[in-house]
Amino acid sequence: MLEIKEVSRYFDNFTALDKVSLNIAAGEFFTLLGPSGCGKTTLLRLIAGFDQPDNGDILLDGKSIIATPPERRPLHTIFQNYALFPHMTVTENIAFPLRMVGCTQAEINRRVAEALEDVSLPDKGNHYPDALSGGQKQRIAIARALVNRPRLLLLDEPLSALDAKLREQMQLELIKLQKEIGITFVYVTHDQGEALALSHRVAVMNRGTIAQVDEPSRLYGFPNSRFVADFIGQCNLLSGKVTQLQDNRAQVELEGLGPVQTAIPADSTIAVGRNCTLTLRPEKIHISSRVSHDEVEAHFKGIVHDMLYLGDVTVYKVELANGMLLEALLANSSPGRARFFEIGDQVEVAWHYDAGHLVMD
Ligand SMILES: Nc1ncnc2c1ncn2[C@@H]1O[C@H](COP(=O)(O)OP(=O)(O)OP(=O)(O)O)[C@@H](O)[C@H]1O
Ligand SMILES: [Mg+2]
Repeated sequence: MLEIKEVSRYFDNFTALDKVSLNIAAGEFFTLLGPSGCGKTTLLRLIAGFDQPDNGDILLDGKSIIATPPERRPLHTIFQNYALFPHMTVTENIAFPLRMVGCTQAEINRRVAEALEDVSLPDKGNHYPDALSGGQKQRIAIARALVNRPRLLLLDEPLSALDAKLREQMQLELIKLQKEIGITFVYVTHDQGEALALSHRVAVMNRGTIAQVDEPSRLYGFPNSRFVADFIGQCNLLSGKVTQLQDNRAQVELEGLGPVQTAIPADSTIAVGRNCTLTLRPEKIHISSRVSHDEVEAHFKGIVHDMLYLGDVTVYKVELANGMLLEALLANSSPGRARFFEIGDQVEVAWHYDAGHLVMD
């Protein structure tokens, strides 16, 4: 439905967006994710029409919308700061876009009531924004955005002003709302957890380019680069070189550690002699005090350097022979069990040959 074609945007000599291409399907919850300054808001503003690309095209249902002014595009943008009118009641705020297009009073009443229902605040119509909590204000901003049924809702960090508990509640509501009304969402966040929780698909951005577009579970399990592995969740990054390829396994010489066997990723440009990174999630690593000789595992000796008790899990940092700190995660599932190892303990870390995901540098 929305096609972004080789879009670039320059500010003086700075390249904010570099030939960005994306296809977003109707009904999709699509997220732009990336570190601060990577170009997320810039791209959203181009879609909204508040700014023009220097190169490339943006198409909606196959037709270019570059020349269409923002108010005539079938979309609506929601910002972090709600942008509600403080001197108007909730009802008047939501009715505003309908008045602008000249709806009748009966039509306005009906659609405002519907919109308040959509965001589960049917009784707040007569309140002023000041009398609402942050979460409620954001829901009213969403109601106002939905009232004239746009094809596309653009949301720029809409939950970042809310505290953690409320943010989680609003995330669940957004998922439900998007499913119910079926409007396409383009959502911007720099919070990877939020992106994984909310989205059907995520585009990870890095310095004005798209690093990877994928479903959340694929981004987490099969990052296509060191950057994506590092940005999405916690990840151990072990540098090495490919030394052998056989059947579905590669042998990788890890810097300062030695050889390990690892699975060959699909659609990879892997070749003997290439520098690579083995990306390993902390929950895929086992720690034990005994030495194992399991052939399908890689194992290395280490010393417990640090630990962090987090209630449900304990994170251990194990120092390996090359000085690297490997992070491993152990669930504290047995009652009262919070510590399996102490700082300074000699341990062995191990992982199954297909626990890691190999990316080329
Ligand atoms: N109008 C402008 N003039 C000059 N530089 C700009 C302008 N707008 C954005 N930039 C620059 O372009 C880059 C991308 O900015 P953008 O606001 O898109 O980042 P972002 O990914 O939304 O970051 P954040 O997560 O901090 O909101 C930044 O380095 C920013 O300084
Ligand atoms: Mg931004």
